[in-house]
Amino acid sequence: TQAPVNVTVTGAAGQIGYALLFRIASGQLLGQDVPVKLRLLEIPQAVKAAEGTAMELDDGAFPLLAGIDIFDDPKQAFEGTNIALLVGARPRSKGMERGDLLEANGGIFKPQGEAINAGAADDIKVLVVGNPANTNALIAQSHAPDVPADRFTAMTRLDHNRALAQLSKKLGVPVTDLKKLAIWGNHSATQYPSVQHAEVGGKAVEVDQAWLENDFIPTVAKRGAAIIEARGLSSAASAASAAIDHVYTWVNGTPAGDWTSAGVVSDGSYGVAEGIISSFPVTAKDGKYEIVQGLEIDDFSRARIDASVAELVEERDTVKKLGLI
Ligand code: NAI
Repeated sequence: TQAPVNVTVTGAAGQIGYALLFRIASGQLLGQDVPVKLRLLEIPQAVKAAEGTAMELDDGAFPLLAGIDIFDDPKQAFEGTNIALLVGARPRSKGMERGDLLEANGGIFKPQGEAINAGAADDIKVLVVGNPANTNALIAQSHAPDVPADRFTAMTRLDHNRALAQLSKKLGVPVTDLKKLAIWGNHSATQYPSVQHAEVGGKAVEVDQAWLENDFIPTVAKRGAAIIEARGLSSAASAASAAIDHVYTWVNGTPAGDWTSAGVVSDGSYGVAEGIISSFPVTAKDGKYEIVQGLEIDDFSRARIDASVAELVEERDTVKKLGLI
């Protein structure tokens, strides 16, 4: 039998952690034949709550769960880890400016990047969920010079899944009939969910432009706020589900003739500033995400991509000025 894969989850005592850990323990992150060892990282005040979650994980008697360790020190939490899910982050509090938010998160993602650089396994894969996810991923990546940059990714799979769900409702088809949707840019309200290349049952998707501009794009981009409004809490189980999808696809690949979306380090493709972590349409093969190349970008898409990328460049410039990258 296979040796257990070490999976570190930060923010383990939070809402997303609560939904995510049970899905990992049940084998949905990597596959039904892969045992996992969980390494939970929390801040000292939340370690007790993480211990409570660990007790419940024990009570699940999951056949694939080979162990749980809990830490409040990133150096220990990332030691020997193969997969790191960086969920814990500093939320925006009232009156906080964007610069303050980026600075507070720099205090989390810089030491975590350093700890990954120092101690993670050679095959480490990192998914940043905690917001602002793209720039937090950039901060962590910039402090892990010995780790290939393409091992750092940010989550836009929830946006991708939201787009799939909205389009499937509009067209009255199951999500499995839809292919080649894409989220471009930042995991924020400026993101661009694109149907330009989307296919339904193998044919180009045709929807009217007014629906795209006034309904589809804002619904997907502002879905997080709509969930808070309805539930009184931010998206958690759907975010955990998307994190599972992101890693499962990364490890097991995308199906032929389709792609998905992920925040990955830009190589300058499609005019996206090199080095920032932006969402692109991506395929996965042999444990690597690759940006889909050679797509024609129409004028509408161009303007939307440029706007979201401009926001990411601004975030990068801010964290650079703050000495965080
Ligand atoms: P939460 O507030 O319920 O939990 C966050 C947990 O992180 C807390 O238990 C906290 O103690 C912990 N934490 C804070 N700093 C930490 C550190 N330095 N090391 C380890 N743990 C630390 O928040 P929730 O709902 O679980 O969301 C987590 C993050 O995910 C938020 O930043 C949220 O905005 C983001 N998010 C991202 C989505 C995406 O699509 N990329 C979707 C939904 C949420």
